[in-house]
This record gives sequence, structure tokens and C-alpha cells, in this order.
Amino acid sequence: MREGGATTRDRLLEWRREFPTVEANLHFISHSLGAMPRGVEEALRQYAQTWKSRGIRAWEETWFALPTEVGDVLGRLVNAEPGSVSMCENVTLAEAVALSALDFAPPRNRLVCTAEDFPSMLYLYEGLARRGVEVVRVPARAGRRIDEADLLAAIDERTAVVAISHVLFRTSQVLDVAAIARRAREAGALTLIDAYQSVGTVPVDVRALGVDLLAGGSVKWLCGGPGAGYLYVSPRVAPALRPALTGWMGHERPFDFDPGPMRLHDGARRFWTGTPAIPAFVAARPGYEIVAQIGVAAIREKSLRQTARMQALADEYALPVGSPREEARRGGTVVLDVPHAEEVCGALLASDVLLDFRPGVGLRLAPHFYTRDDEVDLVMKLVRDEVRKAGG
Ligand SMILES: Cc1ncc(COP(=O)(O)O)c(C=O)c1O
Repeated sequence: MREGGATTRDRLLEWRREFPTVEANLHFISHSLGAMPRGVEEALRQYAQTWKSRGIRAWEETWFALPTEVGDVLGRLVNAEPGSVSMCENVTLAEAVALSALDFAPPRNRLVCTAEDFPSMLYLYEGLARRGVEVVRVPARAGRRIDEADLLAAIDERTAVVAISHVLFRTSQVLDVAAIARRAREAGALTLIDAYQSVGTVPVDVRALGVDLLAGGSVKWLCGGPGAGYLYVSPRVAPALRPALTGWMGHERPFDFDPGPMRLHDGARRFWTGTPAIPAFVAARPGYEIVAQIGVAAIREKSLRQTARMQALADEYALPVGSPREEARRGGTVVLDVPHAEEVCGALLASDVLLDFRPGVGLRLAPHFYTRDDEVDLVMKLVRDEVRKAGG
């Protein structure tokens, strides 16, 4: 790496050896599927061994405690209070559990979201609308940008919850969550943040942001694979929340098999549902631990440097950039709104360049802590060449 004329070392590349898979292709898809840490294979082998050798005793010996332990690893990544993160299968379910705890009683029956939130969440809110919740979808402005002023104006005393993304999945725009959370608090509303596109690449501090609930998953920047979502609930609000979407594992004493009334656990387990997805949490942990050891601040610094380099190359090659340029506004992904984007994406995937295409915005490419600068340069050349071949 050359900076200011001097050659410096990219210390984060030392972690590359933990991700042998990145040697086999150009991995620019961590916004969609992070590379697999090599520790996952051994962790899953041990999981199978425990299942085989300990059988039912595994629950008591390791499995029952595991989601809480893994939740705490995650919690440290977002400066959550110990014991405030519960694990579940995915973000959709994490949000569904959280929202099931709100009563949306009129006049406070509004959910404020944005048109650029992830479709799974929008479908969930549509379901709530069928049950009487008034869903206010703040529209995007030109370039699919969400203007915080529009969001702030939509929040009032009729708002029960502001449910928005921290980083928008299409454009990688970072929203000013602290300002939105402040406004929500003033109006007496809760905040529920979908932090899937931020945690692991953009620093998140739930306490500094002042958010009440935050959901995320593991597949992307955390290199944790599918099946492991999580929900942070601030201890300020947790005791008052009684999820309707619940299950026996949320009970204070699940093994009493008490027919009810339900007595919810007083910690993060009150947000569990049924039997936890142990193998997914086992597979997710090595990625979380690596990200925690590196530190998201260092990941962000590198991400800003490499995404700036990608933007500069895009300008040089006349590839239109759709993601925000300002540092405070851009997440870890660079969006290139090139002609024939879907075709270009297919051709690049066929030659082991991992990236993706999203209708309406074009190509999404993301470097991560394991990306070398020469890969950044190469991927941008390959995109330029494919766009030219496609007639763009
Ligand atoms: C911002 C955001 N939220 C949610 C999801 C999906 O969440 P899940 O599949 O874990 O429900 C994605 C991507 O898959 C995303 O980018």
C-alpha cells in the first residue's frame, strides 16, 4: 500500500490467512455473504462430535448457554450491556419478535419506516398494517437517498416505533441514527434499527446512538454464515416488553413445562422463541470473534480508504457511482450504476469475481478487511472491461 509516497503495511491483511477462500476468487460481496473463516470447519466438527458423544447431555453442558455467550460476543461489538443481546435465526424474526411486544394502541399506532428499508421488513410491516398498525413509509428522494429531515418530520406523538435501517442495503447510505433516535425519544416512540449493513463495517454503539432495539444478522460483514440473527434490547425498555411472538425458551423456567400464564425470563432470554439454532450460532462465532479482535474502527478506516479508491477508479473509468461519496454517508459498499449491470454481473460471477446486482441501482461491490489494494484495482478494471464488452 502506498500512502503519501511512503510504503506502509496493511496490518489487517494479517487476518487474510484465516480466510483461505478469498484466495480462490475476487471476494467483493461481503455486503451479501462474507468469506468463511477457516475456524468454522473445526467449530462445526466439534459441534457434531459433542452431539455424537454427549447426546442429550449437550444441552445442559454447552448448548443451552451458547446463544447467551454468542450474544455477548456480539454485544461487545456494538457496546451493548452484557446480557442484552438475544440470538435468533434472522433479522426478520428478530424484528418480528420485537414488534410483537408493542401494542400499537391508538392514538400511538404508527410505525415509521423508509421506502428503502429491506423488503423483508417492509413485508412484515405490511402484515402489521393488516392488524391495524398505521405504517408511514418515508419516501426516498433523487438517487434513492433518504433525507433525515423527512424522517424527523414523520415522527410525532402518534408514533409507536421508528423502524429503519442504519445503512440502506441498495445504496449503502448511512443514516444519522443518533438524530432520529433523539427525535423518537422526544416524541415518546421507540427505535428499532436494522443494523445488518452496518455492524462489522461501520462502528455501531447502541448506547451512544441511544437506540432501544437493534437487529442484525451474521451472513454479511460478520462472516458468520446463515441462520444466526440477533436482537439487542436496551435494559431501559426490556422489562416492559412482552413479546407475543414467544415460546417456551422465553419462559423464566422452560423445563417446568408450565402451561401458563407465561412468565417471561427477566433477561435477554425473554426474546427467545423455541429451540435455538445451535449449529448456526456455532458457525457464526469465529467470524464475530475475528471482527471483535480487529475492531470495527480499524475495519472502517480501511473500508473508507478502499471505497475511496474504488470511487476514484470509477471516475477514471467513467463508471457512474450510485453510493454516497461523503465519508459520513457511505457504508462499506460501492454501488456502480453501469449500463447492462445484470449482464455484467453475470459475466463477472462466471469468472470468479464475487459481486452482485440489485435492480434499480446496479452493481454492488464491497471490499472488507481481507481485501488487498491490488484486488481493488483489478476488480475495477474487470468491471470497466465487462461494461465495455456489454456495449456500455
Ligand atoms: C439491511 C438488511 N436487512 C435485512 C436483510 C435480510 O435479513 P434476514 O434474511 O436475516 O431476515 C438484509 C439482507 O439480506 C439486509 O441487507
